[in-house]
Amino acid sequence: MSSRQYFDAVAHQWEKMRQAFFSEAVREKAISVADVKPGKLAADIGAGTGFITEGLIQRGLRVITVDQSEAMLREMKHKFQDIDTVDYRVGEAENLPIEDKVVDYVFANMCLHHVENPPVAIKEMARILKPSGRLVVTDLDEHNFEFLKTEHRDRWLGFKREEVKRWFIEAGLKEVMVECVGENCCSQSSCGDEYATVSIFVASGEK
Ligand SMILES: C[S@@+](CC[C@H](N)C(=O)[O-])C[C@H]1O[C@@H](n2cnc3c(N)ncnc32)[C@H](O)[C@@H]1O
Repeated sequence: MSSRQYFDAVAHQWEKMRQAFFSEAVREKAISVADVKPGKLAADIGAGTGFITEGLIQRGLRVITVDQSEAMLREMKHKFQDIDTVDYRVGEAENLPIEDKVVDYVFANMCLHHVENPPVAIKEMARILKPSGRLVVTDLDEHNFEFLKTEHRDRWLGFKREEVKRWFIEAGLKEVMVECVGENCCSQSSCGDEYATVSIFVASGEK
């Protein structure tokens, strides 16, 4: 099963799964690091059912959401059916369906460890930012829980913070910081003999 097929299959239960994996504190940290302002335009990459987007809408931003899974986007569309400030686009993080230099902020929460080529995805996210725009990526620190690959189609077992920092700098971003969110991502393996607890980092940079 590909990553897209996996997320298509779990789309209707993702909200519940997400609540077990990680909390709203991750979203609050990402949004506070970006220092968002109402009326601005953000992109949410690997948006899923709109976890980050929801926080941005609440703060008066317009959002372009991108996800490889049509089923995840459909769930989000249903959730935000009365809101007209969200644009839904099916697409790949490594080849974003967004023009150059159009958004003020880019967010990607728990998407990077699923993409085939993380540094290319980060370059794409930097490409769509306006000058002075901010990229904020929240994802997993490096870990050893192999079952996350087989059970949840994770492609990477998290990342070294130094490596993420280098990718941001290579994408032309400045004021790059990678720090601890102070929250963990938690998951029980389906056979019940392993329990993953992985710390979450927030990486940010300015164009
Ligand atoms: C773990 S979920 C996180 C969803 C959401 N950001 C959240 O915080 O709830 C990962 C999401 O990234 C999407 N995704 C994975 N690889 C992708 C890629 N290469 N391009 C676009 N979306 C991708 C998946 O379809 C899924 O919706």
